[in-house]
Amino acid sequence: MKMIAGIDIGGTKCAVSLGCADETGTITVLERRAFPTMAEQPYMVLKDLAGMLKEMLLEKSDSAISLDAIGISCGGPLDTKKGLVLSPPNLPGWDEIPVVSYFEEVFGIPVKLQNDANACALAEWRWGAGKGCEHMIFLTFGTGMGAGLILNGRLYSGANDMAGEVGHIRMESKGPSGYGKEGSFEGFCSGGGIARLGVRMHEMWITQGKQTSIQTFDAKGIAEAAENMDELALCIYSKVGTYLGRGIAVLIDILNPECVVIGSIYSRQEALLRDYVLKEIKKEALELNQSVCRIVPAGLGESVGDFAALAVGMDGLNIFGY
Ligand code: BGC
Ligand code: NA
Repeated sequence: MKMIAGIDIGGTKCAVSLGCADETGTITVLERRAFPTMAEQPYMVLKDLAGMLKEMLLEKSDSAISLDAIGISCGGPLDTKKGLVLSPPNLPGWDEIPVVSYFEEVFGIPVKLQNDANACALAEWRWGAGKGCEHMIFLTFGTGMGAGLILNGRLYSGANDMAGEVGHIRMESKGPSGYGKEGSFEGFCSGGGIARLGVRMHEMWITQGKQTSIQTFDAKGIAEAAENMDELALCIYSKVGTYLGRGIAVLIDILNPECVVIGSIYSRQEALLRDYVLKEIKKEALELNQSVCRIVPAGLGESVGDFAALAVGMDGLNIFGY
């Protein structure tokens, strides 16, 4: 048995998980703690994460197991070989932050860094909705939009870790922006994207003299209104679903996967999005690509990020089993 810590550094929240892994690639999560990310202060965040992990280990000290490895999952761009975070769009100011050496120095054990979408792809492929697939795409669809690609039964990360950076592909010349690029996939399909699209559509809506019950213009507030059949909220989600389908159609035509697994907002709001996504894929992707591909929410649900970071830690010890 190996004791693994998984650290998930997100644009919105950070989490630390402790898990017990065996050599056959099975993991049991023992505990998990989280806090909101104060992104402006990278070293404070790292200090808080290390402190939280130490506390969790101390409370478990009677179990006589010591920590064997740490896996870190974080939004890219990253340099995984050097263990650096390279200023991700959703962690502004994290310029060349040496997260791997930071934790190596504090804990004195192997630490591995992986792109969050790649890490989630590993977790969903091994333990979630992508089990048994040779070719699978994971889409984060949370604070940001990124893809993790499993091709021929391996994680594909590209020449310099940048494979799967699909969030910055332009979908429209105009539209909400993510990472300073208007109308990008992340601009439409992310938490911030839904909020910005909502605000834009609301401006037009009121000039037409129409009403809305939306209380808060964020992904959650708009979803709540949509569930109460608010017309503007339904329009916003239909647009988001259509763009999500369009992005997926392009990806499945390029990669011909058996499965596209979507996390975060899709796993919470599948009922609002699914029909629009499928309709757009039907319209846009090649029939032979569609016919072999399932579009599904993350099987690990809200826990995918925890399992993702743990998967990275296991991979660092070569016990992920692939
Ligand atoms: C980043 C990706 C990341 C995704 C989800 C994007 O903005 O460029 O590397 O995977 O957000 O966090
Ligand atoms: Na990726």
